[in-house]
Amino acid sequence: MPYQDVYDAWKADPEAFWMQAAAAIDWDTPPTKALTDKGDGLFEWFADGTVNTCWNAVDRHVEAGRGDAVAIIYDSPISGAKCEITFSDLKTRVANLAGALRAQGVEKGDRVLIYMPMIPEALEAMLACGRIGAIHSVVFGGFAANELAVRIDDATPKAVIAASCGLEPGRIVEYKPLLDAAIETATHNPEFCVILQRDQQTAPMIEGHDFDYHGFQEGVTPADCLPVEGNHPSYILYTSGTTGQPKGVVRHTAGQLVALNWTMEAIYNVKPGDVFWAASDVGWVVGHSYICYGPLIHGNTTIVFEGKPVGTPDAGTFWRVISEHKVTSFFTAPTALRAVKREDPAGELIKNYDLSSLKQIYLAGERADPDTITWAQTHLNVPVIDHWWQTETGWAIAANPLGLEELPVKLGSPAKPMPGYDVVILGEDGHPVPDGDLGAIAIKLPLPPGTLPTLWNAEERFKSAYLTAFPGYYETGDAGMKDKDGYLYIMARTDDVINVAGHRLSTGAMEEVLASHPDVAECAVIGASDALKGQTPVGFLCLNAGCDRPAEDIVKEVVTQVRTQIGPVAAFKKAVVVNRLPKTRSGKILRGTMVSIADGKNWKMPATIDDPAVLDEIATALKTIGYANA
Ligand code: COA
Ligand code: AMP
Repeated sequence: MPYQDVYDAWKADPEAFWMQAAAAIDWDTPPTKALTDKGDGLFEWFADGTVNTCWNAVDRHVEAGRGDAVAIIYDSPISGAKCEITFSDLKTRVANLAGALRAQGVEKGDRVLIYMPMIPEALEAMLACGRIGAIHSVVFGGFAANELAVRIDDATPKAVIAASCGLEPGRIVEYKPLLDAAIETATHNPEFCVILQRDQQTAPMIEGHDFDYHGFQEGVTPADCLPVEGNHPSYILYTSGTTGQPKGVVRHTAGQLVALNWTMEAIYNVKPGDVFWAASDVGWVVGHSYICYGPLIHGNTTIVFEGKPVGTPDAGTFWRVISEHKVTSFFTAPTALRAVKREDPAGELIKNYDLSSLKQIYLAGERADPDTITWAQTHLNVPVIDHWWQTETGWAIAANPLGLEELPVKLGSPAKPMPGYDVVILGEDGHPVPDGDLGAIAIKLPLPPGTLPTLWNAEERFKSAYLTAFPGYYETGDAGMKDKDGYLYIMARTDDVINVAGHRLSTGAMEEVLASHPDVAECAVIGASDALKGQTPVGFLCLNAGCDRPAEDIVKEVVTQVRTQIGPVAAFKKAVVVNRLPKTRSGKILRGTMVSIADGKNWKMPATIDDPAVLDEIATALKTIGYANA
């Protein structure tokens, strides 16, 4: 059915549309209605149905006679390990892990924090939680102990499941010391930890508190799938907001099942049995939705890839994996393709592989720049689809739904809103702006199934962060426009969130770290444009009066501080000492103007600036740290 017909059918009767999509899920008790309006902008989907995530992602495929089909392919170009896990194997492994967790007292509703690299056990841990109704919270391996501690205190997990280490090119990241430090710092104390010992680096265990991942499963009774209410949380995933306190995005069980299952065919154009590969990490939303849940729920083979686009061992690694495992749909971030393109601009390595299985490529996580899309189109000769979504939504707000119809690609646009999303561009007065005009991108409530119903333990923050600015709408935090054909263009964030190599980070959180340095009186962090990573953070430091320490020492210290407090993933490598920060007369730091200066863009003198001369000082400072066009 063409896109427009499907979108119109949804709009004509949203609840009927999603009830029909819900028929593709195995329910213990089918829902009697789709939507519950809880008032005050809060909604829930399929709340009165009962269902189990793990049953739908694993057991039902075994029951349907597909037990021998491959569920997970693990491919680690870093360690050289590869393996395949069938749906039957996966059922056994997950049921045992779930049984062991239950034997240790983990029950429905308990939180379990997962801190694991890209190995199949990460997915098994997620599914094992779902099997017994526990709520998982996966933390990305590139975050430091302090970020882990913040999440432990917010989610208050009963247990932690971790690996002894992760593998980055050329270095082993020891997870266990980070975990121990986080537990030491946190106020909340998880009752026990389950540690998967990896060959590359085993971890010392704490007697009575740490259990061996395999040892603790010995002799347990495997757990059956526990039906939970449709509005029971499946997981909490923390994402960056304006402050150092991350937002705990909640995902409900039934909405996630229905929506992700629908997207696999309609958006990603795969049939059960096809191999689907999202080259992301389980620590991000893409990993939750499209490494773990979406493909498995839909009966696809998913790939767990422990490697990088370049350097493991070369820029041909993506093409090797696609060819070797016969990938049909491939999903990555534009930054990853930029990294490949930089090393192999003529696409020579692509020619070494048979990519005949590949039907399409999807890009998300940041704006897909036209150069990258064109390069991929030219060298791979398949549709290259930009699609736009957020941790909050869990699946694409706008896309080109190849399984329904291939819409004409407009470079720079993630195409059109998906069913479920009534996207409007609002002006400052809260009214829609004409086509082609810039504004805040908002979505008319209710959001569709599979999106966030609230923030963990923070309903008021949920309302103030997303629902207050434009009553009746969800505020996406992105600004952009819609053209006369209904195509969306996502241009910038309206808050202090930046996007570094497809990773969402908070400049506010980095400023909190810089401000804690004893010699720093005041600071600002901006996201400057970067040819590879999209954006990279740059810090500006004003030192305390009388501080006579060398500026380069202080810069080095704050760079280390951000790495140890937020993590290497922040990629905070550049900072500069300045005398003053540019501000409005009311004291607001003019970060937007600083970004334009760093990027060498034309900018207008802000009418409200307190002292225009400060901007010259900022430009001079930026030049000293490599921003030649400032
Ligand atoms: N565990 C521990 N450390 C990690 C990590 C993890 N899981 N992931 C990244 N890091 C570290 C890196 O080792 C690096 O450390 P360094 O400063 O010591 O070099 C730092 O965090 C920054 O990592 P990254 O942003 O990955 O930069 P990079 O220079 O190593 O690689 C790219 C650049 C473009 C190849 C890489 O960013 C990439 O693959 N991006 C795609 C991201 C993606 O798929 N995002 C998902 C959104 S869909
Ligand atoms: P995350 O929550 O980490 O997925 O980041 C979500 C944010 O990344 C969005 O709010 C956008 O700012 C940005 N983003 C994601 N996908 C796209 C895209 N296709 N085009 C432009 N920006 C995107």
